[in-house]
This record gives sequence, structure tokens and C-alpha cells, in this order.
Amino acid sequence: MNERAMIEVADLGKSFTTPGGVIDVLRGVNLKICAGERVAVVGTSGAGKTTLMHILGGLDHPTSGEVLFEGDSLFALRGAELDAFRNRTVGFVFQFHQLLPEFTAMENVMMPLLIGGSRRAEAAQRASAILAEVGLEHRLTHKPGTLSGGEQQRVAIARALIREPRLILADEPTGNLDSRISDEIMQLLNRMHQARGLTMIIVTHNTSLANSLDRTLRIEDGVLAGDNLN
Ligand SMILES: Nc1ncnc2c1ncn2[C@@H]1O[C@H](COP(=O)(O)OP(=O)(O)O)[C@@H](O)[C@H]1O
Ligand SMILES: [Mg+2]
Repeated sequence: MNERAMIEVADLGKSFTTPGGVIDVLRGVNLKICAGERVAVVGTSGAGKTTLMHILGGLDHPTSGEVLFEGDSLFALRGAELDAFRNRTVGFVFQFHQLLPEFTAMENVMMPLLIGGSRRAEAAQRASAILAEVGLEHRLTHKPGTLSGGEQQRVAIARALIREPRLILADEPTGNLDSRISDEIMQLLNRMHQARGLTMIIVTHNTSLANSLDRTLRIEDGVLAGDNLN
């Protein structure tokens, strides 16, 4: 095994049982991702990109195959250990930011720390620092509904990073934004990558975003149909 692989996926399969029958979404995906890489995942709608991201982040279990994280089998982890992986090692960014509408930007970003047992004062201090880092120091007390789409996504990125994860999984983070704001969000993610030495896996339909990353994976017919350095 390549010791430097952060993630190694071997013969990964995922099927869903639906009233209409079994759907084989992933049918033998193999890939390796090194620490610090910025990887784009592309493919048509329904190709299985989100399914793959959920499995890589420990949010869903594969039907077959293996995911190794730093050499250890992810799905051999027990409940609390898998929770710890999801909460501490991985930060998720979704297309629809999934911020809590009743809470302010600051409270949304504090939430993962509070759930993790941090004191409120410390959580508040760290949340305001990271919100400043994403350019939102003037929006701390705004609720998501009073923020623009780009600002909401910045809050979501701050929330994803607040526990200092090593891996960012972003599922169409600019899918809902116009091109100028998409570029800003992409620049922000790349800045965070550089500052923190993150590994980033980003699902996108945006070609310029994909090309700004190190490598592009194409999912087609349930397998990896392309794997190119950019
Ligand atoms: N929980 C589920 N139950 C049944 N089918 C699902 C489920 N999740 C995804 N699918 C199906 O799997 C396929 C791939 O979905 P998804 O991974 O979301 O694709 P993508 O993100 O590439 O658009 C789709 O046909 C979708 O309908
Ligand atoms: Mg998707």
C-alpha cells in the first residue's frame, strides 16, 4: 500500500433497494487520495457523486468494498469512533448550506464546538475569529435568512472548519451561486486549503472550479471513468 494515501477506496459498491427494485449506484470504484490534494469529482446528475461523498465521510455505509483512511478501515470503526471521525476529521459543505435558520451566523458556527463539549466563551471566540477569516466579521449576529447566498455559504465553510478537520468534503458548494460569487467561494476554499494544509474533495459541475484543483475524478456508470491531473 502507498503509505502516503490519506484515503484508499477499493472495489467500492453501493446499492439502494427501492420499491422499483435494486439500484446499483457505485459498482466497483477504486481510487487513492493523498494528504493535501485538492480533488474535483465530476459526473452527470445521478452518477453517484453524493453517494460517494457520503461514504467517504462516514455518513453512509457501502454495500461492498473497502474505504481505508490513513490505512485503517473506516467501516470497522464502532459507533462512537465513527462519530469522532465524522465530527473531528471531516468537515462537510453542502450545496444548500443547511444552516439552522433560527440561529445567528455566530451560533451556527459555534454549534459543532458546543456539541463537542467546548465552553460557550471559547466557542464564541473561535467562531468569531473564523467568521472574520471568511470575511464575515460584520455579519456575526445575522440569521441565515438575512444573508446572501454567498454569505450563507461562507458561514457553512466556517462551520465546516471550526473543529480544524483535516479533510473537507464539499458537495456542489457553488451549485446554487452565480459565477462571480462561485469564484469568490472557490478562492476562499483554496485559501483555506493553503493556510491549513487541508485535503479537499469537491463535487462540482463548474469546469473552471474543477480545473483550479489538482486533479479531476469522473464518475460514470458507477465506476471511475476518468482520473486526470489538472
Ligand atoms: N437513499 C437513496 N435511496 C434510493 N436511491 C438513492 C438514494 N440516494 C441516492 N439514490 C439514487 O442513486 C443515484 C445516485 O444519486 P447521487 O449519489 O445523489 O447522484 P449525484 O450526486 O451524482 O447526482 C440516483 O439515481 C439516486 O436516485
Ligand atoms: Mg449530488
